[in-house]
Amino acid sequence: MSPILKRKNGIIVAIDGPAGAGKSTVGRMAAERLNYGFLSTGIMYRALAWKALELGLDMADEDALMKLAEKIKWSFARSAGPELRVAIDGCALTREITTERVGKASSALALLARVRVFMCGMQRAAGIEGGLVMEGRDIGTNVFPDAEIKIYLDASPETRALRRCAQLREQGLAADYPQILDFIIKRDAQDSRRKNNPLKKSEDGFYLDSTSITSEQAVDEILKLCRGVMEKAGNQ
Ligand code: DC
Repeated sequence: MSPILKRKNGIIVAIDGPAGAGKSTVGRMAAERLNYGFLSTGIMYRALAWKALELGLDMADEDALMKLAEKIKWSFARSAGPELRVAIDGCALTREITTERVGKASSALALLARVRVFMCGMQRAAGIEGGLVMEGRDIGTNVFPDAEIKIYLDASPETRALRRCAQLREQGLAADYPQILDFIIKRDAQDSRRKNNPLKKSEDGFYLDSTSITSEQAVDEILKLCRGVMEKAGNQ
């Protein structure tokens, strides 16, 4: 079967990479141009972490976190844009889950094997029909190892910290560059050294360094790859 025919709504574009590499921005823009859906899977880990922090749970207590994850009513709804909006118990989370505190907690609970299996199951269900750009840390290596396009989007830690500062300031929030750079370096280490589905480039993936290119240029590169796959499928 040709890759394009494998799923009902189109191909899967998996984008993995470290924190702040621009996966969300680039992924959303690519989805818009493809008229595909877009799912940022970090939101799911962040949503669970946010709720767990609210309840005062320990981020290493796998039983309690799993009980919570299973009790939550998760939903994914496509709105006017490409984004699949994640809501828990009917409540869409926005700014409250973007804090460094929630980011750190989400990286800690993402170490846990059962939490990862749970998230992976929901992500596979969300993408089963294709026509989706999905970004995270293990999409091409674990969630959709058969994704038609796998990108590892990278950038230097300094560039990623500067981008994160600009993003926070745009939202009217304070940004301390040395502290953010330190957070980024520690989170990279935690995400890539963990035992379960660590962040790494898949063998058959495409490495894209966005340090000195714009988001638009990164999107152009991704769309070039997509067109290649689609043309190949059309010729089969
Ligand atoms: O992309 P983000 O910063 O919103 O992700 C928050 C954390 O969630 C990240 O530090 C690691 C975890 N995560 C993961 O382990 N696997 C994914 N597919 C997505 C996120």
